[in-house]
Amino acid sequence: MSWAVNPNRSTLAIFVVGLPMVLMSWAGYAAEPVKLGLVLPYSAVYASLGNDITNGLELALSEVNYQVAGRPIVVLKQDSQVSPKVGLQITKKFIQQDKVDFLVGPVASHVANAMRKAAHDSKTFMIIANAGSVVLTRELCSPYIFRTSFSNWQPNYPMGIWMAREEGIKRVAILAPNYAAGRQMMEAFKEGFLANGGEILSEQYPALGESDFQPYLTNIAQGNPEAVFVFFSGADAVKFVRQYAQAGLKDQIPLYGSGFLVEGKVLSAQGQAAVGIKTALHWADTMDNPVSKKFVRDYKAKFGEIPSLFSLQGYDTGHMIIQALEATGGDTSDKMRLRRALEDVRFESPRGPFKLSRSHNPIQNIYIREVVNAGYGVIENQIIAVAAEALEDPGTGCDL
Ligand code: PHB
Repeated sequence: MSWAVNPNRSTLAIFVVGLPMVLMSWAGYAAEPVKLGLVLPYSAVYASLGNDITNGLELALSEVNYQVAGRPIVVLKQDSQVSPKVGLQITKKFIQQDKVDFLVGPVASHVANAMRKAAHDSKTFMIIANAGSVVLTRELCSPYIFRTSFSNWQPNYPMGIWMAREEGIKRVAILAPNYAAGRQMMEAFKEGFLANGGEILSEQYPALGESDFQPYLTNIAQGNPEAVFVFFSGADAVKFVRQYAQAGLKDQIPLYGSGFLVEGKVLSAQGQAAVGIKTALHWADTMDNPVSKKFVRDYKAKFGEIPSLFSLQGYDTGHMIIQALEATGGDTSDKMRLRRALEDVRFESPRGPFKLSRSHNPIQNIYIREVVNAGYGVIENQIIAVAAEALEDPGTGCDL
């Protein structure tokens, strides 16, 4: 064999020996699954929220046959209950043992706060599919933490403004569970309400998972407010709304809240007790746009029930991950590239155009919904006003 140019034999050897290795590792890389570790509640007060988020996510993944850019997607699930301690344990296991590419969850703000350091320090992407903890997209913002849901400020601040200005309500009693989300939501409501001439007659913070609201309802009635504004969700929301009606307050003092109060299975369980309640949120299953209608139809076909807001947030989380992976060609090793891809995600969500702020939180409309008897035994949330358009949580960015 003669060479026109003196070949570098060692390079050739490396090339010949190296080629199958490169091909093997490429093939190995192509087949390497992308792992999602779901840190969600499948028990306790927020169990139905965790199940809905999981279903929404699985619907989005099933649209691409659990495959993106040649890589299969696998979903690992663990029950975080509503415990910061359990949530953190699961998070560490997912990061260290399972080496997940994305953490998905959690539902509760105090659980999210507990997970934050482990995700940030290990540079593991965490896509928050519900928990609205404001610090995570403000002072504790992280390049690796994104949210597809809302900040606790987002629905409540404009609701405070709307109630004072549009409903002419000036004297209210407020109530929420005593933990990060309850406190932050009430602060946001007060910010909008007090600046528009409102007055808070009483603030009460029962424990998360409270079963007897009677003493709190007695206090409310004694103060004789024009309206009551609350945040409750999951099993707490079912119990509160039922007990509010049983105490005879429903027809005396109008009840308002953030929309979690009357969402999905919670609304079905409340039934007539919920009719007339007005709430603020970034979506309603009755929303009249083609993307939302398709989502409701597909979800119903797959799971036999109407999706909730939590299902929607799981669905959008799936789309966000899929689109970012498509943009990187399935590469999850270059963290900065994947971060930019996640930041650049844009799609038509059932709630409207999906786009993140510089703090990794959705910029979105907030709607006022009212629970109505739609006939034929159907009780649903109908949108009656737009409280805020393209509302951005006041965070300043995630370049730590
Ligand atoms: C939260 O803890 O951030 C939280 C929980 C349930 C909701 C909304 C927010 O429905």
